Amino acid sequence: MGLLGEGINEVIATTSGNAAPIGIICRDAVPRMVLFRGSHTAENVLRDGWIVANFVYDPVVWVRTAFEDLPAEAFRTEAVDGTSVQRLVDAEAWIAFAAEVERSTQEAHVVRLTLLREAVEDLRLHPVNRGFASIIDATVHATRYVRTGDPHLRRLIDHHASLVRKCGGRREWEALDLLQGYIAKQAPE
Ligand SMILES: Cc1cc2nc3c(=O)[nH]c(=O)nc-3n(C[C@H](O)[C@H](O)[C@H](O)COP(=O)(O)O)c2cc1C
Repeated sequence: MGLLGEGINEVIATTSGNAAPIGIICRDAVPRMVLFRGSHTAENVLRDGWIVANFVYDPVVWVRTAFEDLPAEAFRTEAVDGTSVQRLVDAEAWIAFAAEVERSTQEAHVVRLTLLREAVEDLRLHPVNRGFASIIDATVHATRYVRTGDPHLRRLIDHHASLVRKCGGRREWEALDLLQGYIAKQAPE
């Protein structure tokens, strides 16, 4: 399975000019994604047939890419098997995949991934930090909360925000401020 582990690997997925947090599900050594309809990621994967999984540990990038775009300078083009793909400049490692839709429902596409190339650029050690983990969880809930306004999701976000304040460092606190800003701007009344 190379750089991926069994279970769901949370990565920053890049497609043409776009980056978003996405889970890569590895069961029985087969990597797949479930892409909800309506995202730029789903649109680009269906059109271009490739995706890059970026290993990134900056909490601010997780929050930003969940809600908006990154500037063009954040991307680097790589030629892989005759295809130009884009990965993040600051990725510690990345994996380029060919992506093929296996089946689709009204809500989502199940996409099977085939490894094209994986590369380790600049690996660092990341001590386990519940503040970072809670940014990831809070961001997952927030991407749903801004669509639904579900008060249960709001409580989950608040729970993770308190863990970020307790366990995180400055970068996690910055990411949390950014997240609260997106929620204030985008959540339904
Ligand atoms: C940790 C995390 C994992 C996510 N995993 C998925 C996923 O597996 N599939 C999906 O469609 N959206 C997933 N999302 C939501 C997308 O990142 C979100 O809808 C994003 O706005 C899509 O951006 P895009 O329109 O630029 O593609 C996830 C969000 C987070 C924070």
